Amino acid sequence: MYRILLITALALLFAVYGQAQDWKRFFPEEDLMTVGAYYYPEHWPQEQWDRDLAKIAEMGFTFTHFAEFAWAQLEPEEGVYDFAWLDKAVALADKHGLKVIMCTSTATPPVWLVRKHPEVLITHEDGTRMDHGARQHASFSNEYYRSYSQKLIAELARRYGQDERIIGWQLDNEPRSTVDYSEDALKRFRLWLQKKYGSIDDLNQAWGTNFWSVVFSDWSEINLPQHQQWGMNLYQRLDHGRFADEETSSFLDEQARTIRQHAAEWQWITTNYIPMYDARFIGQSKELDFITYTRYMVYGEHEGLGPKGYRVGEYSRIAMANDYFRPLSPLMGVMELQPGQVNWGSINSQPLPGAVRLWLWHIFAGEGKFVCTYRFRAPIYGYEQYHYGIVGPDGVSPTAGGLEYQQFIKEVAQVRQEARQGEVPAAYAARKTGILYDPDNYVAMQQNKQTTEWNTEAHVLKYYKGLKSLGAPVDFVRDTMDLSAYPVLVVPAYQQMSKPLIDKLTRYTEQGGHLVMSVRTAHQNEKGHLWETPHAAPIYHLLGASIPFYDLLRPHAPDTVVMEGERYGWTSWGDVLEPNEGTESWARFAGDFYEGKTAVTHQAYGQGSVTYVGADSHQGRLEQAVLTKLFERLNLPIENYPPGVLVEYRDGLGIAMNYSDKDYEMTLPKGSKIIIGQASLSTADVLVWRLPR
Ligand code: GAL
Repeated sequence: MYRILLITALALLFAVYGQAQDWKRFFPEEDLMTVGAYYYPEHWPQEQWDRDLAKIAEMGFTFTHFAEFAWAQLEPEEGVYDFAWLDKAVALADKHGLKVIMCTSTATPPVWLVRKHPEVLITHEDGTRMDHGARQHASFSNEYYRSYSQKLIAELARRYGQDERIIGWQLDNEPRSTVDYSEDALKRFRLWLQKKYGSIDDLNQAWGTNFWSVVFSDWSEINLPQHQQWGMNLYQRLDHGRFADEETSSFLDEQARTIRQHAAEWQWITTNYIPMYDARFIGQSKELDFITYTRYMVYGEHEGLGPKGYRVGEYSRIAMANDYFRPLSPLMGVMELQPGQVNWGSINSQPLPGAVRLWLWHIFAGEGKFVCTYRFRAPIYGYEQYHYGIVGPDGVSPTAGGLEYQQFIKEVAQVRQEARQGEVPAAYAARKTGILYDPDNYVAMQQNKQTTEWNTEAHVLKYYKGLKSLGAPVDFVRDTMDLSAYPVLVVPAYQQMSKPLIDKLTRYTEQGGHLVMSVRTAHQNEKGHLWETPHAAPIYHLLGASIPFYDLLRPHAPDTVVMEGERYGWTSWGDVLEPNEGTESWARFAGDFYEGKTAVTHQAYGQGSVTYVGADSHQGRLEQAVLTKLFERLNLPIENYPPGVLVEYRDGLGIAMNYSDKDYEMTLPKGSKIIIGQASLSTADVLVWRLPR
């Protein structure tokens, strides 16, 4: 029933981290996935290190992770370095066969640095300054912080750069934008703008400063915009965000360059990002070998499905992180995954038994090559007291989550025997779908929403979840990437769009691609200005329709869109469409003065087609119905999985996962061999099978 197809890594086509196959240098392909555990030697008496590292190894972990927040221990006084303790920890890790990820410790500048140069501390928009005592309080825009960081990193790299026990480096920790209102930041922002625009006239034009007399005559007049101040220039704010994001990526690039001066080529360099879909810096640091993410699933947010769904977590969170990071970085790894309760959430509940293992399998299913648990030991003091580890506060007894890690490690060893690298079912490969995504667009829409009903991430998720219910593998792709590998490309709410990108999408469609675009797309040019035309006119040729107006509804009076007799509620955004002759009208607005006008169009274009979805429906059911209709029309093989059930394939294996509060019965093709679990999946269950030959 299923033909098996060897797919070449699509990633080969992308401008991404490393060569697509490069990861095999770092993580043997036949391992499929390896698992590690964070350990902070500096938190524990030295006499316990041997016991702890032995236990990490005994539980099946193959690597550990050191020196993440240890600047004060590594450089107790300016220019005085102490590596003796770290040498000892590395030697003990090696004794137990554990490889080490070495970190750069820059997220925790020591007090001597902060007191000597208080300017390193981040100044907030309201003028208040952060202080020593926590972490991530120093600004990436501060010259002192940057140069002191480089000195420490150079010392670390000199010491461990040729050390075979060290497999790679993690820079900083969960880097994010350090938006800083200090003098250094202002100076660097002005320089950044000069480099970007060249002339103040060009800046004035791009920022539209004739509006409200914002006009600047010299770079020295430019301020760091107050985002809280009402009516602040949109483009200045956007550029400020872009600048802050680039400060993050250039800081990481600087760190990587310093390490590379001393490190052997087999040591890799990465960092661990929180999946933030409005962060431009994810994917921006070009010196890294690959990028990784961190994920926490149960911490008082994200309800999941059913009243206790919060214990399992929201099913799209690992899925989307996988599909967002992997196209950017074919070596997809997860640097942190919680092993149990955390301490920092609003309500730190127990995960459902089985949930930790479910998440691990989900990372595996998304082609993760490694995963690392946060953390081995539960801390007994400090801000993260009450945070679970692989072992509890006594340092020796495995927690429930720790046992689930152990089980997963054993299960991966089991499936290794059955894997056939690179194989996935033909039907799965045939429905591979791209989502064209740009974090800059996300920020631009969030800061200029037009309605409180609009939520950019929720909008994208409606398409994403729709695709997952069809069983489609999804890649979040960027406009610089090759799009031709995707029979269907979804372009959700891509508000800022350049002419070259419109041309690229036009060619994609002419050559047989099927575009699905949604509300707000191409309303603005790449500068964020509206076109001097009717709304979105530069894409009318693709739509086979025009958009005479758009509408936004009040929450107490929603309307509906009707498609094939089904009604779909909406309030947030409606692009009212006027199709040309020959363009199909798939759905119509109902309930207001434009009752009967088209809400969804579809037209053949070149060898492909364009579907435009002119409404953002409440639950995403309209989006799902449109995708289903399109896939059926195109004869693309689809599934119909209920919300919370996810099925992915890699390396000749199928992996089904149940995040829902209902049982699910998986039907396997003849000739499949179940390796783990059973076809009937309860909440948090996983089923792994070998594909038929
Ligand atoms: C992460 C962070 C780790 C640790 C962890 C605790 O966000 O990167 O350093 O603080 O949370 O759950």
